[in-house]
Amino acid sequence: MLQEKLKERTLPPLPVVSSEEEWEDVRKNLLRQFCREEYGLPLPEAQSVTVQVITEDTNCLAGKAHFYKLRLTTRVQGQDFSFPVEAVVPYRPEPVPAFVCISFFEHVPNFSLPAEDVVDAGFAAFSFHYTDITTDDGDFSTGLAGLLGKGDRSEEAPGKLMMWAWAAQRVMDALQNFPGVDPARVAVVGHSRLGKAALVAGALDTRFTLVIANESGCSGAALSRGKIGEDIRAITKTFPFWFCPAYGAYAGREEELPFDQHALLALCAPRYAYVCSASEDLWADPTSEFLSCVAASPAWKALGKPGFSAPDRLPEVGDAFGDGSIGYHLRAGAHGLLREDWLHFLAFFRRHLA
Ligand code: GCU
Repeated sequence: MLQEKLKERTLPPLPVVSSEEEWEDVRKNLLRQFCREEYGLPLPEAQSVTVQVITEDTNCLAGKAHFYKLRLTTRVQGQDFSFPVEAVVPYRPEPVPAFVCISFFEHVPNFSLPAEDVVDAGFAAFSFHYTDITTDDGDFSTGLAGLLGKGDRSEEAPGKLMMWAWAAQRVMDALQNFPGVDPARVAVVGHSRLGKAALVAGALDTRFTLVIANESGCSGAALSRGKIGEDIRAITKTFPFWFCPAYGAYAGREEELPFDQHALLALCAPRYAYVCSASEDLWADPTSEFLSCVAASPAWKALGKPGFSAPDRLPEVGDAFGDGSIGYHLRAGAHGLLREDWLHFLAFFRRHLA
């Protein structure tokens, strides 16, 4: 039944590969296409990242965790760019897995980050506030955009999603050597526009072992072809600055895209990906998010991984599919990143990577 539904979407097929080496080449080409047509060219990596502890509390959550208020200073193209990060790291005998949260909030915990649940499950969380990187508007003259982009809005110039993704990668740089954290088990997570940014970060940087896109919708995890709610015309009209200018050419012309968003998910293979939808979030379109997981699955299967494991039907509210390399759940309610979503991420992360 799901294959029939996918046929209606007339997706460009994923390239077929038979080995991880072959996949690496194909992956790079696919990633280049996404950069050139949708998100813009990647920013240069940092030459160095230094971590300064601004304040810390060794008795966080009544003694269960170490809280940090950090400042990360990145050296990039001979210039410094710095931004704040807040973190909780549970006290455990062994290094713990961690989440990098691209966040709408400045502090930890916050309305979208149930820090105590995360800590109790044995995970650390590092969170940065997205507008500390660059403003969420068409201003490309300040913050990271001003520093690295110099106001460039040529066809393939990076949009804001690419810049938030870049910052997540810099947090990942810092985690390569952070007390109590295992850098081999780090997830990147974001909600909505920041779920789109998390997918870009996960596509660019294979050091993220799990990529979580919560209700990322249009130009995130949801298929563009046949999507209801927001489409490329709507998103590039209201938020042209999230993307490279070239993406605007696909407004109302989804069929002409050389890829669809399932291929962005596939760029996580053979690592793990997690997609979630909320039943009332029709703007993001839960069905198109779910079908994207189904369509991305062959990328994992080709590499001998389980892919997406779900029954051959559309999801019902309350369903959670966590057996495969791609996890998915559909929760009741409206757009938002809730504790309920986090409990699913924690269960998936623990099951596969703890
Ligand atoms: C708007 C936008 C979405 C986006 C969302 C959000 O609704 O149209 O694409 O995901 O904002 O970031 O909350």
